[in-house]
Amino acid sequence: LKIPQVEINGIKYKTNPKITNVTDSIIQLTDRSLHLKESHPIGILRHLIEKKLNSIDNSFRIFNNFKPVVTTMENFDSLGFPKDHPGRSKSDTYYINETHLLRTHTSAHELECFQKIKYDTENSKSGFLISADVYRRDEIDKTHYPVFHQMEGATIWKRAKANEGAKEPLHIKKIREDIRKVEDKLNKENVKITVDDNTLPLKEDNPKQEYMSDLEVDLCSQHLKRSIELIVSEVFNKKIASMIKDKANNTPKELKVRWINAYFPWTAPSWEIEVWWQGEWLELCGCGLIREDVLLRAGYKPSETVGWAFGLGLDRIAMLLFEIPDIRLLWSSDERFSKQFSKGLITSFKPYSKHPGSFRDVAFWLPKDEPDVHQIHENDLMEIIRNIAGDLVESVKLVDNFTHPKTGRKSTCYRINYQSMDRNLTNAEVNALQETVCSKLIEEYGVELR
Ligand code: PHE
Repeated sequence: LKIPQVEINGIKYKTNPKITNVTDSIIQLTDRSLHLKESHPIGILRHLIEKKLNSIDNSFRIFNNFKPVVTTMENFDSLGFPKDHPGRSKSDTYYINETHLLRTHTSAHELECFQKIKYDTENSKSGFLISADVYRRDEIDKTHYPVFHQMEGATIWKRAKANEGAKEPLHIKKIREDIRKVEDKLNKENVKITVDDNTLPLKEDNPKQEYMSDLEVDLCSQHLKRSIELIVSEVFNKKIASMIKDKANNTPKELKVRWINAYFPWTAPSWEIEVWWQGEWLELCGCGLIREDVLLRAGYKPSETVGWAFGLGLDRIAMLLFEIPDIRLLWSSDERFSKQFSKGLITSFKPYSKHPGSFRDVAFWLPKDEPDVHQIHENDLMEIIRNIAGDLVESVKLVDNFTHPKTGRKSTCYRINYQSMDRNLTNAEVNALQETVCSKLIEEYGVELR
């Protein structure tokens, strides 16, 4: 008997028909490593941020070669995700089998990296940066792709015992100094950043951890927030400078950011930063002070260490810095795309001819809402379309929901835009794709087309 299996990054994993939902078209993306390409927008951005953060005192060790298959332990349990957390669901996550999945965030490697830098903390402070591709089942449009990139960052300080005679423990003095170093860098930026922060003082819904003092929480969060503001001002100021040079008429006069409260199972308190860009608040990054249980799992002694972590999405930032209108372009191997970028430079992408799209609707009756009837999730439909049309699909939008007044049966209609980035599609080609999508829907979900 042949055991069903898939091969990812040269390793074979057994699959389980009840659990496996990773598809061939996704597996093909697992060895692209766009973040390692020096002249690719993702690689350029990654390098820019690493350079800025390490310009302070080179305290971040860099880990950029983690492979995307991780265990459910690494991705969820090690970080304290409850068993019923929605992030674990099959509709959002690509599972390989019951124990392995494609990481949904770079936090999956936090525990391992905290272990790796443990002995660096002898000099009282250390940290790491991890960049990698991450995977989430999602809708299809210009800004969503099932693979994107994150950079994880963390800093920890080794606590000192209050030494006799001195007013403050040594690590408190050290964190104060470290804050000043980040602030010095921030003050050198040419466009000043305006920060709106009403997450302080802390409220009950975003509490501090018992083991940290009020002063430690205050100082660690200042260091965290200033460090992230430094990243934001580095990349956005570079953009503003190039817009000034190009005399772009939408050049912003100031850089506005705001802090909001958030929740992550492995940090407390937790926050998110948003930046005001071209008329809207853009979510950039989640962060917080690392929970002691994560540090304990990584082998640190109780009360030994304090620190912070953040996770930054790279693709959206790259798209606006390089003016890339469609996220699929990041994955294109067309030279008209790749030749436009070079190491260390933020340049605006010049679109090469846009090819027309073709709309096709697919309308179907949903399966009966009964316990043993196999239901179809919107992300399942997205997956079927991606797997058949690949990057030839530009977007899929829900256009209609209908409930039959007499029978109560529900139907739904989605509009698919088939559009290639580098050539014109023929009608026959689009029809064939659409037909395959329809028959797959019937075959896999038993839906009845309308
Ligand atoms: N992993 C989180 C996300 O993907 C971001 C995060 C990283 C939050 C580290 C807190 C600390 O949304």
